[in-house]
Amino acid sequence: MLFSRKIAFIGVGNMGEALLGGLLKANLTNPENIIATDTREDRLQFIANKWKVTTTTDNIKAVAFADVIVFCVKPQAISDLLTDIKDTIRSEQLIISILAGITTKTIERFIGKNNPVIRAMPNIPAVVDEGAAGICLGSFAKTIHKDIAQAILGAVGTVEIVSESLMDTITGLSGSGPAYIYMVIEALTDGGVMMGLPRDVSIRLAAQTVLGSAKLVKETGVHPAVLKDQVTTPGGTTIKAIKELEESGLRPMLIRAVEIATQKSRELSQFLEQKNNVEKNS
Ligand SMILES: NC(=O)c1ccc[n+]([C@@H]2O[C@H](COP(=O)([O-])OP(=O)(O)OC[C@H]3O[C@@H](n4cnc5c(N)ncnc54)[C@H](OP(=O)(O)O)[C@@H]3O)[C@@H](O)[C@H]2O)c1
Repeated sequence: MLFSRKIAFIGVGNMGEALLGGLLKANLTNPENIIATDTREDRLQFIANKWKVTTTTDNIKAVAFADVIVFCVKPQAISDLLTDIKDTIRSEQLIISILAGITTKTIERFIGKNNPVIRAMPNIPAVVDEGAAGICLGSFAKTIHKDIAQAILGAVGTVEIVSESLMDTITGLSGSGPAYIYMVIEALTDGGVMMGLPRDVSIRLAAQTVLGSAKLVKETGVHPAVLKDQVTTPGGTTIKAIKELEESGLRPMLIRAVEIATQKSRELSQFLEQKNNVEKNS
């Protein structure tokens, strides 16, 4: 799919490195096809040593080299970045943006050359190739562009294609979701410690319980409620704990968490949209 396409990663912090590294680990491309940029020289030195790719602080040079440009900077950096590279971008270049809250329209409008744009929302388990990403297509993106984005994001996890109106929900569920699950793991660990387990044993058991339970849902396709019923012995320990979780509101709490995070993502998108419009028009 990627063949010998040249790919520029603009910003190689946590997510940029995860995507770049995922492609190379999966042998989907060679280091010669990749260029990575960042503001920090020490970071680029680290990336060059580890992945043997070309690195530079010069975004214009990277954009000129690439067929596919992957934006991995923080959302606040987008205006400066686009201003910087706008004149160098060619209309046939595919732009993939993983920036939270930055719409395909914002990028299309800013560049103004009808480039295919794909917006993606990955999550941090991409670092260990277990990410969950949503992607959506901009006005000029075609199937080939979707396939390329799917190959890049798919190298580090699963990919769901959604309409852009659902990207904030993806942010509220799987984008922010790892933090919710880390809290669950931490709390289960504390429970084990409270009841006498050494902390290192407790955290390993808690993490593996989350991992194994998720794997069972994914691999069997069985509804989680059915799997829960299967491990709930009448009059046993699990049903006692489930009653406590229901009374304490675990389900509505998690539903509400996704709802609130989605709303916050919408607010952020609107704020960034307005800010970028103002900056573009000023
Ligand atoms: N982390 C997550 O869980 C997650 C999940 C989904 C989506 N995202 C999205 O992924 C993006 C990156 O997140 P991250 O966690 O990887 O951030 P990060 O670790 O801070 O990486 C961003 C990198 O880009 C560099 N940078 C800033 N401006 C630049 C420019 N003009 N040209 C080249 N490089 C530049 C930054 O350098 P400085 O430090 O000097 O600014 C930094 O090294 C964000 O937009 C975020 O919304 C992140």
